[in-house]
Amino acid sequence: MAFLVFFFSVIFFLVGVTIPAVYSCPPSELAALLAFKAALHEPYLGIFNSWTGNDCCHNWYGVTCDPTTSRVADINLRGESEDPIFEKAGRSGFMTGTISPSICNLDQLTNIVIADWKGISGNIPTCITSIPELRILDLIGNRITGSIPSDIGRLNRLTVLNVADNLISGKIPASIVNLPSLMHLDLRNNRISGEIPSDFGKLKMLSRALLSRNQIYGPIPGSISSIYRLADLDLSENQISGEILESLGRMPVLSTLNLDSNRISGQIPPSLLGSSGLGILNLSRNSIEGYIPDAFGPKSYFTTLDLSYNSLRGQIPKSIMAAAYIGHLDLSHNHLCGRIPAGSPFNHLEASSFVSNDCLCGVPLRAC
Ligand SMILES: *[C@@H]1O[C@H](CO)[C@@H](O)[C@H](O)[C@H]1NC(C)=O
Repeated sequence: MAFLVFFFSVIFFLVGVTIPAVYSCPPSELAALLAFKAALHEPYLGIFNSWTGNDCCHNWYGVTCDPTTSRVADINLRGESEDPIFEKAGRSGFMTGTISPSICNLDQLTNIVIADWKGISGNIPTCITSIPELRILDLIGNRITGSIPSDIGRLNRLTVLNVADNLISGKIPASIVNLPSLMHLDLRNNRISGEIPSDFGKLKMLSRALLSRNQIYGPIPGSISSIYRLADLDLSENQISGEILESLGRMPVLSTLNLDSNRISGQIPPSLLGSSGLGILNLSRNSIEGYIPDAFGPKSYFTTLDLSYNSLRGQIPKSIMAAAYIGHLDLSHNHLCGRIPAGSPFNHLEASSFVSNDCLCGVPLRAC
């Protein structure tokens, strides 16, 4: 008898352990996902057709659970992808509706990607800042309005914040500088106004800061040049004013600096032109004046150097001939004068690189 009890206990134990070990999501998370789905409308691909039954951890399109806890860990819904579902439909994704605050009940989420659906509107739910493990928030390519939640700085694991190509307004929240893990910040092509926080340089992990095509005004904060890892700074097509800091040219890994189409004044710091790492520099369409510094050197290697549409005067500096490489050069629409240097960095350039100056001459323009 005792043996039989033991025997059945073992059987029950094995059954009890092995079957529920095929994890399924908790009912509260199931409800949160269904509420999230209910606020969206995806008419062409049927991505939500798989969101049925009680087990949101298995075969729900774009949902991934943590295998040990069975908690929803990722929502990954991209409207442009290689997934066969898109091939079958022969089109990219389109979705309307809003991002339901019920997403915040999924409090073990690490990644939220709801990208390139073109039609999702409404605000970013403010409660999103209460998801403690969130690492990636990618909402690029929708029609999201409202502002970035003011307490975004609570997300101390956040590495990627991408809300580019939306209709987001308001200011860059002051708390953003408290994101100690932030590596990629992409706010391009929105309606963001106000100034860049002066203590932006607190973002020590930042490698890409892409803020172009907004209505940001005020100066480039000096603290930016203390971001050791910053490789790509794009502030173009805003209303940034003030001067370019000399220290930007001494940033160790900065390779792209786009400040074009702003209201920047003052002169070009020599450090930018002699910098060894800077490969793309676009200062076009500002109010930059003075001479082009005679500061090129053998370390200068530019795939793009665009200084067009400013108020530069004087000659093209002799040292430019010492540059290791200049691929695309645009000095047009300034007040430059004198002979265009002849030699290797210039041989491939066309007249359009030099037109509309006061008195430049020599190949590829008219003879001097
Ligand atoms: C530099 O910026 C200007 C103005 O925003 C833009 O028209 C131009 O194409 C850019 N230059 C390059 C080489 O990308």
